Amino acid sequence: MTGKPLSTALDHFSHHAKDHLQDLKDLVRIPSISFPGFDASPVMACAEAVAILLRKHRLNDVRVLGTTTGYPSVFGQWIGAPGRPTLLLYAHYDVQPAGREDLWKTPPFEPSEREGRLYGRGASDDKGGVMMHLAAISSWLQGAGRLPVNVKVLIEGEEEVGSGNLEQLLKEHGRLLAADAVVIADSENFETGVPSLTASLRGIVTVTVEVRSLSSSVHSGTWGGPLPDPVLALARMLATLVDDQGRPAIPGILGKVRPLSSRDRASLESLPFKEALYRKQSRVLDSVNIIGGPGTVYEKMWYRPSIAVNAIEASSRKQAANIINDAAWARVGIRIVPDMDPLETLGLLKDHLVKQAPWGVQVTVNPESPSRWWRTDTEGPIFEAALAALEKGYGRKPVVTGAGGSIPFVRTITEILGGVPALLFGVGDPYAANHSENESLVIADWESSCKSLIYLFAELGERK
Ligand code: BES
Ligand code: MN
Repeated sequence: MTGKPLSTALDHFSHHAKDHLQDLKDLVRIPSISFPGFDASPVMACAEAVAILLRKHRLNDVRVLGTTTGYPSVFGQWIGAPGRPTLLLYAHYDVQPAGREDLWKTPPFEPSEREGRLYGRGASDDKGGVMMHLAAISSWLQGAGRLPVNVKVLIEGEEEVGSGNLEQLLKEHGRLLAADAVVIADSENFETGVPSLTASLRGIVTVTVEVRSLSSSVHSGTWGGPLPDPVLALARMLATLVDDQGRPAIPGILGKVRPLSSRDRASLESLPFKEALYRKQSRVLDSVNIIGGPGTVYEKMWYRPSIAVNAIEASSRKQAANIINDAAWARVGIRIVPDMDPLETLGLLKDHLVKQAPWGVQVTVNPESPSRWWRTDTEGPIFEAALAALEKGYGRKPVVTGAGGSIPFVRTITEILGGVPALLFGVGDPYAANHSENESLVIADWESSCKSLIYLFAELGERK
């Protein structure tokens, strides 16, 4: 389909892009932080706001799908194209906490446009993705009066906390969600303005670890010497997680890492790499080394495991008195890759931490819900359609990349739907600062992604 309906949909989008952007800003205003300890009411309000948008754009059967615990997902569909393929469109409405509020140039939940970017928590991850789906659907339905394919929309509310209830929800509503392919708007472009199709995700295994040596903190002068400091104990334990090149050093952890095929290696090496650009994108400071041993940064980010200590707590800067703390706490995450198993990785990590604990300190390790890695081939008509659509939407040749981040939904839904293909392309870019302060979205790229999805519907509708 290249004729009139498509151009009507594209025209409709160009006339209404500003309205969709306004809806995105209104979503960004809602602090829908899914982390435990944050107010639940804005998260529920955001689910409701998404449901209202789905109805406004004429989706049918709009429902807020709850589970017994956790935040709901929002569903809606338009299935008025019998005989044509059905796409399940996914994004998430929950966001990360704001981080250090004083580092935001404008407040995190007050959307603000500067130099072609929309700033605000969730602008890129992933409310921009939510609005990408809705803008594309609306452009077809309002512009052309119909869609060339059937669509089902699922907008999740706890992706940023590991989607712990999603599997149950997907199993419960398997029939409602049945589709020929899924389109996930929750990834990033390789570079600003470069359309990118993501063909792999790492998984993640996260734990919190607490080390305790005293029943309460004590004066470090009076008591220091014979007593084990839990902060030093934790520091020693954490230091054993990596080798001198920063690579995971937990015994057994690398055993299942799949070696790169020569095809994979060739494709990684074909990606343009400029150290200066990589340094700018990654925000690494000038004097700081790029670590991880030999290999391209892409191999290290996409196909090798990595470990990060997200937070450490023991007293605080403000209360840093001369004490031996009673306890120390950290949150540790391991990104996992083919063919690592989340539960096996968790076991190795737990056992290692306990084994490395010095001086008889008490160690408690608590796991969070893990996410599996995902990888796909990009051969076949559906991937060709996606690449063609991205090229048209951006006016530029797309690249196929991997990603270092995780999206639990992808593996789970493709398995439940019997191995259907997943198309991942999103609205982020390397400067989006997702999960950090001053998160932002390139408005022009977001518009190009919306247009790509408008084209994708046409490409897939044509094929039957
Ligand atoms: N959008 C990201 C995942 C992502 C990042 C995909 C970069 C592709 C490229 C997503 O919202 C996210 O941050 N996910 C969490 C998942 C975890 C809590 C299971 C992550 O990766 O930390
Ligand atoms: Mn996201």
